[in-house]
Amino acid sequence: MEIIINTQLKLRAWKTEDKQQLQRIANNQHVAKYLRERFPSPYTMNDAERWITLNEMGLDETHFCIEYDGMAAGSIGIDIQLDVHKQTAELGYWLGEDFWNKGIITECIKAVTPYFINKFELKRIFATTFSENVTSSKALEKAGFKLEGILKKHAFKNGIDYDGNMYAYTV
Ligand SMILES: CC(C)(COP(=O)(O)OP(=O)(O)OC[C@H]1O[C@@H](n2cnc3c(N)ncnc32)[C@H](O)[C@@H]1OP(=O)(O)O)[C@@H](O)C(=O)NCCC(=O)NCCS
Repeated sequence: MEIIINTQLKLRAWKTEDKQQLQRIANNQHVAKYLRERFPSPYTMNDAERWITLNEMGLDETHFCIEYDGMAAGSIGIDIQLDVHKQTAELGYWLGEDFWNKGIITECIKAVTPYFINKFELKRIFATTFSENVTSSKALEKAGFKLEGILKKHAFKNGIDYDGNMYAYTV
């Protein structure tokens, strides 16, 4: 499945040929700074291989490679929640630093939100940003997500406590 956003930007499956580019763009502390620790930093070739293999095995197509000007530029996807939360999903995304501030993630969020809602019959997609991560919050707001609240001391990373912003898009 591919989602064509415009002539420069599309969402498609991760493929083996992306391995080197993935490792190159993901191996960046600026990218990792506000992501969970499960996003490796440093990001090795093995990490890239594992991510691509995982996606190739996945049957549910919940994660896309963001392709910009023919290059793998980042990743966007959802994790569908369990139990009574099964109609909700958490949205996550990142872009290689070379691709920041071109409006790319805003367009990707706008594209995947209705797509995932329809595909998986979801009622809520949420994202929690580190409150300092103004860029991410701004992108979510531009894509129609609403700030629902501030989660005090939501995250602890590299010795620092961070508040979180809970954003959601509901139908
Ligand atoms: C967060 C991230 C995906 C944003 O991607 P992006 O494509 O650069 O974002 P966009 O260009 O679509 O939108 C960013 C908006 O924030 C604005 N912005 C950036 N820094 C800002 C600041 N300090 N204060 C106010 N607005 C700011 C930009 O101007 C832009 O808005 P505009 O288009 O109205 O000018 C990218 O920075 C990234 O990958 N960061 C590392 C990983 C990460 O933090 N992921 C999110 C975890 S929740």
